[in-house]
Amino acid sequence: MTPAPAPAAQRKGRILVVDDQRNMRATTALLLRAEGYVVDEAGSGEEALGWLADHQVDLLLTDLKMEPMDGLQLLKRAVELAPRLSVIVMTAYGSIETAVEAMRRGAYDYITKPFKDGELIHRVDKGLEHAGLVSAVDLFAGEFKARHGLSSLVGRSQAMRDLTTRISRVAASEATVLVQGESGTGKELVARAIHALSGRSRAPFVPVNCAAITESLLESELFGHARGAFTGAVKARRGLFEEAHGGTIFIDEVTETAPAFQSKLLRVLQEGEVRRVGESASIKVDVRTVAATNRDIEVEVNDKRFRQDLFYRLAVVTLVVPPLRDRLEDVPILAQHFLDRANVRSRKPHRFHPTALDHLASYGFPGNVRELENLVEQAAALAEGEELLPDDFPLRRKSGEAVQVQVPAQPSGGPVQSLADAVTDAERRAITSALEQSPHDLSRVAEVLGVSATTLWRKMKRLGLKTTGEEPQLS
Ligand SMILES: Nc1ncnc2c1ncn2[C@@H]1O[C@H](COP(=O)(O)OP(=O)(O)OP(=O)(O)O)[C@@H](O)[C@H]1O
Ligand SMILES: [Mg+2]
Repeated sequence: MTPAPAPAAQRKGRILVVDDQRNMRATTALLLRAEGYVVDEAGSGEEALGWLADHQVDLLLTDLKMEPMDGLQLLKRAVELAPRLSVIVMTAYGSIETAVEAMRRGAYDYITKPFKDGELIHRVDKGLEHAGLVSAVDLFAGEFKARHGLSSLVGRSQAMRDLTTRISRVAASEATVLVQGESGTGKELVARAIHALSGRSRAPFVPVNCAAITESLLESELFGHARGAFTGAVKARRGLFEEAHGGTIFIDEVTETAPAFQSKLLRVLQEGEVRRVGESASIKVDVRTVAATNRDIEVEVNDKRFRQDLFYRLAVVTLVVPPLRDRLEDVPILAQHFLDRANVRSRKPHRFHPTALDHLASYGFPGNVRELENLVEQAAALAEGEELLPDDFPLRRKSGEAVQVQVPAQPSGGPVQSLADAVTDAERRAITSALEQSPHDLSRVAEVLGVSATTLWRKMKRLGLKTTGEEPQLS
């Protein structure tokens, strides 16, 4: 006789049972529930991946023979999504080859159908023990990460692990954080993770992109304004600092601000109060500030474009997000992450041919993670077959090349330009010609140039180029 089911509280662990045969799935789930586990069920590999993307699961128990995504494919993607997950595969055939293959691909164990109740419970117990062990060793990359804001930051390279560890540590403090990194590396995700992991997570996270707002508007956006403060200010308005009360404000592209604005921002940070434009009284605000820039901010300080005192005030803690080319080992897992997301949205079972992943991993990604994300989404939208091939990923630049711009050679004997001027000229030419091709679509121009819309906007502002399109939306 089986002993009476243990009360739920005695068992720890959340299990996802995946089987396309409803009876088998239901019976297995019932048995595990009777043992006190929390059990969820999925009828296909696709459904299981969707669940894993949003939920904490400790152990995945999956059938091997399913259509269209079989258990081996599910296993592969599941461990990419949740690296510390224990996976046990069930096989009806007892074929040792498939079981070995599953173990080789990262399964913790396998069980042959039909199995005895006791055998299943024993293996599941062991699998959960294993999951617990992995999480204790790899706290930040594992359970902790999955339960909190860090789960959105995909990547297993040492650089990403170090970054997530630092994020977890700094989040708990109230320190102002400066996030540095090239365009598209994930600075905003980092800022969101800091907020999500902090004691402020229930209050708002308010992002403001300084490069996307004209100088004159920035002040009233952030600090608010009194009624009649300027032409068009028909009503009084709260600023974003007030909106973020109790939470976090994310001041993106902070180096793109004018000196006068920088002094005002410094005052707000020092005094913890804002004064609406056109108002004489100040309002106390309890806001944590996270700022970001894709420039070398110390150069900006040295060149007197950025106030040194504000820099010190912002950079209490600095986090650097490394460019993707310095962590190319993250490319396959990121690519799979974006493909899984696209598949869930489009309900299509696209998959990478291994050569496609090799093709991607050999690229330099000047546009960083955003460029990879765009490449995968476009390929998934346009590909004809289910399998994505190298040709589905038209890479614009070769590895290591920073900007794909043809700079005409200086006429010999002509005046020699400084490097900075040559780069500015080349940027101007590249942007102008891309604008000519898509004059009304700034996002398209940004995409063609391999930069974000805000980066493009900022560069255009700097170069004094006019757009016929609209300013990029606040991110
Ligand atoms: N580690 C990651 N895991 C998953 N998605 C990522 C990761 N890093 C970046 N992304 C995705 O890449 C895109 C760019 O990220 P994000 O906007 O945070 O970059 P950024 O550094 O702020 O760029 P910019 O300087 O251009 O504003 C986003 O869609 C984001 O979700
Ligand atoms: Mg950003």
